[in-house]
Amino acid sequence: MSKKALRIGWIGAGRMGYEMALRLAKAGCDLTVYNRTRAKAEPLAKYGVKIAGKVSELAVCDVVFCMVSTYTDVKAVVAGKGGLLSPTGKAARTVKRRAPRILIECSSISLEGSAELREILKAHGTELLAAPVSGNAKVIKAGKLSFVCSGPRAVFDEVAPLLKLIAPAASYVGEGELARIVKICHNVLLGITIQALCEITILAQKAGVPRHAFLEFINQSVMGSVFSRYKTPALVNLDFKVTFTPTLLRKDIDLGLDAGRRFEVPLPLASVTRDLIQSMMGAGMTEQDFSTLLVQQARASGIEIKPENVPVSDGLA
Ligand SMILES: NC(=O)c1ccc[n+]([C@@H]2O[C@H](COP(=O)([O-])OP(=O)(O)OC[C@H]3O[C@@H](n4cnc5c(N)ncnc54)[C@H](OP(=O)(O)O)[C@@H]3O)[C@@H](O)[C@H]2O)c1
Repeated sequence: MSKKALRIGWIGAGRMGYEMALRLAKAGCDLTVYNRTRAKAEPLAKYGVKIAGKVSELAVCDVVFCMVSTYTDVKAVVAGKGGLLSPTGKAARTVKRRAPRILIECSSISLEGSAELREILKAHGTELLAAPVSGNAKVIKAGKLSFVCSGPRAVFDEVAPLLKLIAPAASYVGEGELARIVKICHNVLLGITIQALCEITILAQKAGVPRHAFLEFINQSVMGSVFSRYKTPALVNLDFKVTFTPTLLRKDIDLGLDAGRRFEVPLPLASVTRDLIQSMMGAGMTEQDFSTLLVQQARASGIEIKPENVPVSDGLA
């Protein structure tokens, strides 16, 4: 599949969608982007991207990516009134194709939602590749994002060159909605891991170890990871600019707990973590990064934390 010959559509220019679409644009793809709040997509125009005023304008594309928030949003934007599948104007007059051939759906959504979406798309002759991702906007910029994909193998093979333009790693895990459960498991681990990092960092601090010194050791130890390193600036210097909202993390842990019920798997650590995220949100901490769990942990430990103002690497450069 030649990237230039393909008309590519993109739905959702939020934190993730913007950076992902930008990589396609920089690679020279023929790209049209729709975002509900048009102003967020407009900066992409200087990279040759066409900005669509309506999502239905993307119906004439060959391949459309979707990166919005929840399954309710995916359904609204794809199958809702005026959505991708109800083209109007020029797109409706294009007799040959009124729906894209392939939808690559990247939002973190449930297995059930994804299966329903596949059925809806099938009725329009559109194939679905479930393709959620691991990494935040900075990770995308650093060229370190990864996709986990499921759906028809032939579709994955066909679009793999496009995925590679966005992320160096794209794993295919099987048919149907399997990628969704992999992503849900991944984000349950993400939630548990950030809470664990916050707990031990505050324990070390209260015992007298500066956070930067503690995390320098953890990052170099066998327990260090890409994640612990890129969260270090937040934990040391309290840089809580949003990478991922508490609301979206709570959504993903809820998806994990739902899956645990469906498959009869106890998830004790996920349950506790979910309640801790809920406590933080109930206390009004919703607008900053999910790593504000550190602040909640400090309060629960009777200490007040301040930025250490020590230069620390996020390991992504
Ligand atoms: N941030 C991360 O680190 C991260 C990492 C991996 C996966 N994810 C997943 O990726 C998805 C996007 O996350 P994000 O951080 O990019 O979120 P975000 O910054 O809040 O962006 C959400 C995007 O969805 C659009 N949207 C939401 N509801 C919509 C609706 N009903 N109709 C049309 N458009 C709608 C928003 O449009 P407006 O601009 O108009 O609001 C925006 O473009 C989520 O499923 C999230 O769980 C996030």
